[in-house]
Amino acid sequence: MRIYVTKDYAEMSRKAANIISAQIILKPDSILGLATGSTPVGIYDQLVEWYGKGDLDFSETVTVNLDEYKGLGPDSPQSYVFYMHKYLFDRVNIKPGNTHLPDGLNDDPEGACREYNELLQSLGEQDLQLLGIGRNGHIGFNEPDNIFDQDVHCVSLTNSTIEANKRFFEAGEEVPKFAYTMGIRSILRSKKILVVASGEDKADAVRNAFFGPVTPLVPASILQLHDDVILVADKAAYSKCSEYREPSPA
Ligand code: PGA
Repeated sequence: MRIYVTKDYAEMSRKAANIISAQIILKPDSILGLATGSTPVGIYDQLVEWYGKGDLDFSETVTVNLDEYKGLGPDSPQSYVFYMHKYLFDRVNIKPGNTHLPDGLNDDPEGACREYNELLQSLGEQDLQLLGIGRNGHIGFNEPDNIFDQDVHCVSLTNSTIEANKRFFEAGEEVPKFAYTMGIRSILRSKKILVVASGEDKADAVRNAFFGPVTPLVPASILQLHDDVILVADKAAYSKCSEYREPSPA
């Protein structure tokens, strides 16, 4: 595992964007696994800026997102498909047909998961998977549990995730209770995994994920078993790890 510790969120975003941009330049038809949430916003802004300068071309890039709320579609500002259009897809030259997320509007969980699994299978493994990490150690919406869920599945969100995600919803709006998410196997099949974390409230999750035991109670801890993981964390998110391991040279 390579670990980069940056001074702040802006530097974390630039470093992660550099890694993604190198991937696209070296392999323009890369399959990128993408993530939503507040952490990647700065990364997408940076990629858009480099695209605007002519340094990046998304015309052959294919994307697969980690997850989507069950019940929300492209017209809901809180859906992940809306988020992806807002922060990335509508700002670069990616082909709409090359972007994929689970279908939140399919209310048949089995059908929705089967469809997304089949799509992932047909595209082949991600070249690079971007991941945020939840305060409870989740990746995608793989919540702490007694087992590692493998493929795309429908999850019942934990109270801590619902609480954490309330900030994206208007007062009085309900956070959906279910979501479709790539499972651990779908994530681990990526050739390279890029985890980003910012802020002190992620410090426990980062320590438990990368320096604690591998357990489904901390879903991100499974990443210790993947042989090409890069962690880009700002100082605050890495603050409880320094005693375990020095970061890689920049
Ligand atoms: P955040 O979410 O980037 O909004 O903190 C990360 C996650 O929950 O995976």
